[in-house]
Amino acid sequence: MAQPLRAVAAEVLLAVEQGQSLSQCLPPALARLPGTDRPTLQALCYGSCRWFHRLDDELHSRLKRPLRPGDRVIHHLMLVALFQLRFSQQASYAVLNETVEACRALGKPHLTGLVNGVLRAAERQGAPTPNTDASRYSHPDWMVEKLRHNWPDDWSAILEANNAQAPMTLRVNARRFTRTEYLAQLAEAGIAASPTRFAPHGIQLEQPVPVDQLPWFADGAVSVQDEAAQLCTTLLDLAPGQRVLDACAAPGGKTCAILEACPELAEVVAIDEAAARLPRVEENLERLDLSATLHQADAGDLDQWWDGQAFDRILLDVPCSATGVIRRHPDIKLLRRESDILPLAGIQLGLLDTLWSILKPGGRLVYATCSVFPQENHRIIQRFCKQQGAAVLRAPDVAWGRDMGAGRQLLPDPTSHDGFFYAVLEKPDS
Ligand SMILES: C[S@@+](CC[C@H](N)C(=O)[O-])C[C@H]1O[C@@H](n2cnc3c(N)ncnc32)[C@H](O)[C@@H]1O
Repeated sequence: MAQPLRAVAAEVLLAVEQGQSLSQCLPPALARLPGTDRPTLQALCYGSCRWFHRLDDELHSRLKRPLRPGDRVIHHLMLVALFQLRFSQQASYAVLNETVEACRALGKPHLTGLVNGVLRAAERQGAPTPNTDASRYSHPDWMVEKLRHNWPDDWSAILEANNAQAPMTLRVNARRFTRTEYLAQLAEAGIAASPTRFAPHGIQLEQPVPVDQLPWFADGAVSVQDEAAQLCTTLLDLAPGQRVLDACAAPGGKTCAILEACPELAEVVAIDEAAARLPRVEENLERLDLSATLHQADAGDLDQWWDGQAFDRILLDVPCSATGVIRRHPDIKLLRRESDILPLAGIQLGLLDTLWSILKPGGRLVYATCSVFPQENHRIIQRFCKQQGAAVLRAPDVAWGRDMGAGRQLLPDPTSHDGFFYAVLEKPDS
């Protein structure tokens, strides 16, 4: 018999607490359940991560003492139940009964009394008023403090945007349809949508839909990609005959956007060090009928992959804290540590330094992150420009984001794009 849904959700949450991302641990968990239960499991796991810090504070206040380490999964089971009590329409008696059932199924029948008691009290007494910003906005304390420090006027709007549901945004494959043509296809299919404000090929859907309901999706008409991520092609100044490097490419969203934006490029080389993520690049290229040269390598170790020919354009979409995309990946709140940021900044500057050396004179490098921390963004660019006196920083003439002096920052917008950072650097001709 299949395990109860809430038991599976509790195990997923435990795996996230132990360091796995939802994109790692959720797919195998979904596969264990009948198809009809899968959307609910997904909603429980995403919602419980999104509200983890607030719910965890409440649970701590309701427990006389923490559960034994071996019973930790029951702590997560109660968080999932609290998520449902506080944020779903599910009838509370069903939440209680099914959570107690799941407690048994997890092999912890001795804890059913505790679970029942805690949840009954939670139901009767209602949600406590959060007494810290970390609890109110449901983020780790360090993130709230860092955002408050970095963005004194915007920190609470950023935290609120991180808790909002992100829209589903598409990138129309310009080789197949114009945006106007594809909007008409969507209208015919009864899918309400509008053009994005800044990305020329972007379309935002009013409601998310499964991709197989999108007209011609399997044939490569569109891809799912946030508007901010789509902006990379507008900054690269692509032209026929160029050799382009996408240095941190998986799952290939930007590689494909580049190839769609300028079909006559001489070559696009796409690199990623994560072997497990490269097949996603291949799948995307195949569906869109595009081709690129792929290498599984550390982009910063040129001996592993570089053939000695310099590039006209380089997109460096570095590994980062991903704090601009928390609304799409709420597990980041649990996975990221404050101590990650300094080593990430070291990796980012190191990659920038190395890849600069293989940019042609007259060439352009676009540095990108999906972070909202200046430490990974304009401060990296400032440090780099100080070291590389010859690098010319271009201020793109665009209507989006904020000018940070050394690059542009987009903050997550609850009505449209994710948080992102871009900087454009050019190497002088001689
Ligand atoms: C922000 S994601 C890239 C997203 C991708 N550009 C897209 O638009 O679909 C960063 C990627 O960098 C890869 N990565 C991290 N360090 C790397 C390195 N030293 N060399 C190459 N890839 C690296 C990670 O595996 C991850 O896939």
